[in-house]
Amino acid sequence: MEEFSNERLGRLTGMLKRRGVILPAFEIHGGAAGLYDFGPVGGRLRNRVNQNWINHWQSLGNIVEISCPTVTPYAVLEASGHVGEFSDYLTECQKCGEASRADHLIEDEYPNADALSKDELSKLIAKHNPECPNCGDCSWGQIEAQNLMFNTKIGAGTSGRQGFLRPETAQGMFTSFTSIYRHFRERLPFGAVQTGKGYRNEISPRQGMIRLREFNMAELEYFIDPEVQPNHDFSLWNNEVTLLADGSGEISMTIGNAVQQGIIRHPTVGFFMGWTMDFLTNVGINPNHLRFRQHESDEMAHYAEDCWDAEIFGSYGWVECVGIAHRGCYDLAAHEDATGQRLRAWRTFDEPKVVEIDGWTIDGAKAGPAFRALAGQVKSAVEEMSSDTSFPKTIAIDGIDVEILAEHVKRVQRTENVNGEWFIPHVVEPAFGIDRIIWHLLDHSYTETEKSGEDYTLLTLPEAIAPVDVTVLPLYEKDGMGELAQTIHRDLCGRKDVFSVYDASGSIGRRYARADEIGVPWCITIDHDSLTDNSVTLRSRDSGEQVRVSIDDLPF
Ligand code: ATP
Ligand code: GLY
Repeated sequence: MEEFSNERLGRLTGMLKRRGVILPAFEIHGGAAGLYDFGPVGGRLRNRVNQNWINHWQSLGNIVEISCPTVTPYAVLEASGHVGEFSDYLTECQKCGEASRADHLIEDEYPNADALSKDELSKLIAKHNPECPNCGDCSWGQIEAQNLMFNTKIGAGTSGRQGFLRPETAQGMFTSFTSIYRHFRERLPFGAVQTGKGYRNEISPRQGMIRLREFNMAELEYFIDPEVQPNHDFSLWNNEVTLLADGSGEISMTIGNAVQQGIIRHPTVGFFMGWTMDFLTNVGINPNHLRFRQHESDEMAHYAEDCWDAEIFGSYGWVECVGIAHRGCYDLAAHEDATGQRLRAWRTFDEPKVVEIDGWTIDGAKAGPAFRALAGQVKSAVEEMSSDTSFPKTIAIDGIDVEILAEHVKRVQRTENVNGEWFIPHVVEPAFGIDRIIWHLLDHSYTETEKSGEDYTLLTLPEAIAPVDVTVLPLYEKDGMGELAQTIHRDLCGRKDVFSVYDASGSIGRRYARADEIGVPWCITIDHDSLTDNSVTLRSRDSGEQVRVSIDDLPF
């Protein structure tokens, strides 16, 4: 496997900072751990990777993009389980006070330490006595669970409600389910994607872009009927991939075979693993440095039924960059329970069925005046309740607590011919960390070589995501060459999806080198001949080849 040395890492991060790709944020104020800027070059790189990701999933034909707020009310994240469960174990160095994630201190000995309990972690830290990454001391304090969400207040003064900055974009897709369901004319399967910021107050954000406190997420929530066997085309991927399967260890096989053998437990999870692999390799991840790792059952997030991480190898070793989880009906059921709102899809039976109805409805004469505008929602909620529900019962509707008394309801017991039923869809979710992916595609495309006896570096980024498409270089800024170059540059910038940079400073060799260093695929040079024959030199980053072309025939 290619060398990713610490020295190379230092040179790469230095270049990324110097050239305005990615750099620590707020540095003039001393910076803040876990916060990074995408600079003048990185901004477009991030944007293109995001857009590429959206286009890739939308090309499936049944995916829409939505955008939800990052500020999220307490009730939403309480219902989703994040208030109760979204925590890591922290311990502090007794000498320097630096906080560390307890599992990270022993992850060399126990790669799945994040699945261990507080007691297990305490014992293992006492046994191995790991060094503090900050000061090297080995005395550790109590281990405490720390919730990772950033608190905030929605509204001012005493009427302000507690909220959080979202730790994932996913919850917005669940709370918008009804509107997405309507958009798709109430027919599964379909999905919604969202790209945007996620926030986690990570305990010890080291390793540059890998562990951030504010980061770029891209998630798909794909809603399916669990009783319909999906029909995916696995012949798209005939190559073998590396799978670290729970219980089977490292294996090499096609995704189709892994699904067939039940190693990947759900076909849609398998299909999305293939689709993920295509995205990652299209944006420049080296397929030889990619593998999928299945979560062990005690490692899975609180909502997951099966989960595979796409892990990428680079300067920081193997890093999880994508999680593909079968979330079952966990989230929609949780929000339904908390709100009393129906978050279901309708399934029509092949043949009508005779069913025993035993449940509740409202007594209109009493419930109508009691609940007024909310009566319709109370009725839907009551009709979902099981026959053993007892009243009075309080439910939340639109954030308002509503008490339903025994006199508001009537028992319903009858036999009925029904042609379908409401059910809670299942969800398969690919969740991508865009920053980790961008880090790795930079890491994989960074090439150190030699030119004319000197060190030379270039980024071999795919054209589809290169932050600059073309650099326009006048050989000299005189005799009209500068003006012609400016005209070509502005004309290119005016074209759809083309971003050009004008560069006239330094020797032509230095300017080519600067363009190569940030991965510009093409350079256009304007020389004396250009002024008379309307042609320019077009240089390719990857082959170094230079050809003379007419300005009218530029391939942009
Ligand atoms: P880790 O175990 O590394 O903390 P996670 O299992 O908590 O990650 P998920 O909750 O599955 O991660 O989040 C989905 C994706 O979001 C991850 O695969 C990763 O790419 C990205 N991600 C998660 N936390 C961070 C972070 N602090 N900084 C940057 N990216 C992150
Ligand atoms: N939405 C998946 C995650 O953030 O883990």
